[in-house]
Amino acid sequence: MIDLSVDLAGVKLANPLMTASGTCGYAQEYGSYVDLRQLGAFITKSITVRPRLGNPPGRVVETRAGMLNAIGLANVGLEAFLKEKVPLLEDLALPVFVNVAGTTIEDYLAVIEALAEVKVVRGVELNVSCPNVKEGGITFGVDPVQIEHITRRAKERCGKNILIVKLSPNVADIAITARAAIAAGADALSLVNTFTAMAIDVETARPLLANNTGGLSGPAIHPIAVYMVHRVYTQAARAAKVPIIAMGGIQHWRDAVEFLLAGATGLAIGTALFVDPACLLAIRDGIADYLRRQGHESLDPIIGSLTLNTAS
Ligand SMILES: Cc1cc2nc3c(=O)[nH]c(=O)nc-3n(C[C@H](O)[C@H](O)[C@H](O)COP(=O)(O)O)c2cc1C
Repeated sequence: MIDLSVDLAGVKLANPLMTASGTCGYAQEYGSYVDLRQLGAFITKSITVRPRLGNPPGRVVETRAGMLNAIGLANVGLEAFLKEKVPLLEDLALPVFVNVAGTTIEDYLAVIEALAEVKVVRGVELNVSCPNVKEGGITFGVDPVQIEHITRRAKERCGKNILIVKLSPNVADIAITARAAIAAGADALSLVNTFTAMAIDVETARPLLANNTGGLSGPAIHPIAVYMVHRVYTQAARAAKVPIIAMGGIQHWRDAVEFLLAGATGLAIGTALFVDPACLLAIRDGIADYLRRQGHESLDPIIGSLTLNTAS
C-alpha cells in the first residue's frame, strides 16, 4: 500500500497534489470535470479586499509550450468570497489554502485577518507578485526587504492558518527572496509564480495581450522552475525545515517527480488543467506507480533525494 500523505507545516494532506492559484477558480467551476475531493488541498485564486474586474481582454494567449496571461487578479473580493464561496469550499472537505493579493500591506492584512476566522481555511498563500502602490509600484516579491516586511506583518495576523509565501521567479537569485521570507516566519514557500513575458502580433506590430505584458506558465517554464526549487531547497528551505510547494509546467507524473526529487513536499498544477482537468488524478496515480517500481512505500525517501553529478 503506497502512502502518498505529506505534512505541510503541520497541515496533513492525503497526497501532495493541489490546484495552482487562479487556474481552478473557487473549485465549483471544475466540479463536473474532476473529483477535487481526491486532491491533497485546494488553492483558491487570489482574493483582494475589494472585488476586481481585472484587465480588459485579450487576457490570455497560447504560446509555444506555454500560456501567457494577464488576468489582472479578477476576483469577487473578500466579502463575497466569505459569503458565497466559502460554503462551497466547505463541501470539498479538503484543506483550503487561500491566495491573497493586494497593492498595500493593509489590503493584505485585512484579508488575512478575516481568513483566520474561517474553519475550512488552513493556510494563506501570499501572492507577492503585486505592485506595492505605496512604494512606487515596485513589486513586493522582487525586493527581499519588502518580502521580509510583508511576511512578518502577515504572520502576525494569520492566527490558526499557516503562512505560505509564493515566490516570484522574476528575480536574479530566488534563494535571496526565499531566505527573506523564511527569516520573517514563513511556514512554507510556494514557487514559482509566472515569468513576465510578451508575445507580439507581427501583422499589427502590437502586443497580443491588451496589458502588453503577462505571465508565462506551462511546460515552457518547467525546467527553470525545477532549477529554482532545487536552489531554494538546497540554499534555504532544507536547513530551515520549511516545506516547498512546487509548481511550473507540471503536465505529467514525471514532471511532478522531478520536483519531489528537487526538494518539493507539495505540488500544484495550473496550466495543464486547461488541457485536461483530470490530469491531477492521473499525475497522483503516476507518482504512486513510480514509488511502487522504485520499492518505496511513501514519499519521504524521495523528497530532496536528487544526487548531483560530480564535476569531471
Ligand atoms: C490563467 C492563470 C491565472 C493565474 N492567476 C493567479 C493568481 O490569481 N494568483 C497567483 O498567485 N498566481 C496565479 N497564477 C499562477 C499560477 O498559480 C502558477 O504559479 C503558474 O501558472 C505556474 O504553474 P503552471 O505552469 O502549472 O500553470 C495564474 C496562472 C494562470 C495560467
